[in-house]
Amino acid sequence: MVNLQKCAIIGCGQVGATTAFTLMKSGLFSELILIDLDPEKADGEAMDLNHCLPFLKPAQIRAGGYDDLADAALVIITAGANQKPDESRTDLVGRNVAIMRQIVPEIVSRNRECILLVVSNPVDILTQAVLKLSGFPAQRVIGSGTVLDTARLKYLLGRRLHVDSRNVHAFVIGEHGDSELAVWSSANISGVDIGDYCRVCCASESAKTLHPIFDEVKNSAYAIIEKKGATYYAISLAVLRICEAIIRDEESILTVSTHCQGHYGLDGLCIGLPCVVGREGVLQILDISLDGHERQGLERSAALLRELIRQQHL
Ligand code: 2OP
Repeated sequence: MVNLQKCAIIGCGQVGATTAFTLMKSGLFSELILIDLDPEKADGEAMDLNHCLPFLKPAQIRAGGYDDLADAALVIITAGANQKPDESRTDLVGRNVAIMRQIVPEIVSRNRECILLVVSNPVDILTQAVLKLSGFPAQRVIGSGTVLDTARLKYLLGRRLHVDSRNVHAFVIGEHGDSELAVWSSANISGVDIGDYCRVCCASESAKTLHPIFDEVKNSAYAIIEKKGATYYAISLAVLRICEAIIRDEESILTVSTHCQGHYGLDGLCIGLPCVVGREGVLQILDISLDGHERQGLERSAALLRELIRQQHL
């Protein structure tokens, strides 16, 4: 039996450490285990986090080893190299698949019941790698996918249309990377078609004038990495959102990376799609309608991922 109050984070770089901070602040878990190749780094992060506790809800936060994973409900993988200013996410693939080959057997030899949440990049390929290496059921191996990209699109649309970004509903799907796409055909503001919303509330805009915003979404990580070296705050909240959906069995719709089995005509690869997420992981992949352009975009994105999967022998 796993302990729903217990979560482990493997990899204490900027994303892992910020995720630990975000999870601790949320109070979602009462036990957080931090694991890193460098035990001193994990211990230092745990000490720093523990000093926050007098301001927060009680929790056990400590550096640990793989033996501490035995009853964790959720294991989050943030380990691996991250993008440098002149790199794309896919440039990391060889190095980070090799790291998954080391980490995953260590996890599954201690715990075969947990949910594995992959955050390291390129996240779709690494989710595929973790699925294959773990032998877990597909629903329990989840990638952070395009949850962050979807948030970026909501934020930018909300700002442009002068509306609360929580009222913006629009998916980014596909690879979390250069081939991702926005599903404009179903974008809406609290149920109002985005074109109608522009006509009613924002006459200077139309569905078409909004489309270039997506380039900003797609290039956000490059822009941030160029300016400050890494991205970590928003991804940590995307991870928290996925963890909440799982632990609280929310049945929330999130664009996580998941293994397709015939959905959208795609088979045998992990890719970001709208999914219902709950206690057992991905409960359902939503096969929403796409227009012709979007369908082609998704196929192109899948083809790129398939080629990387082939090259990595996954
Ligand atoms: C991001 O999109 C780098 O994948 C990371 O912020």
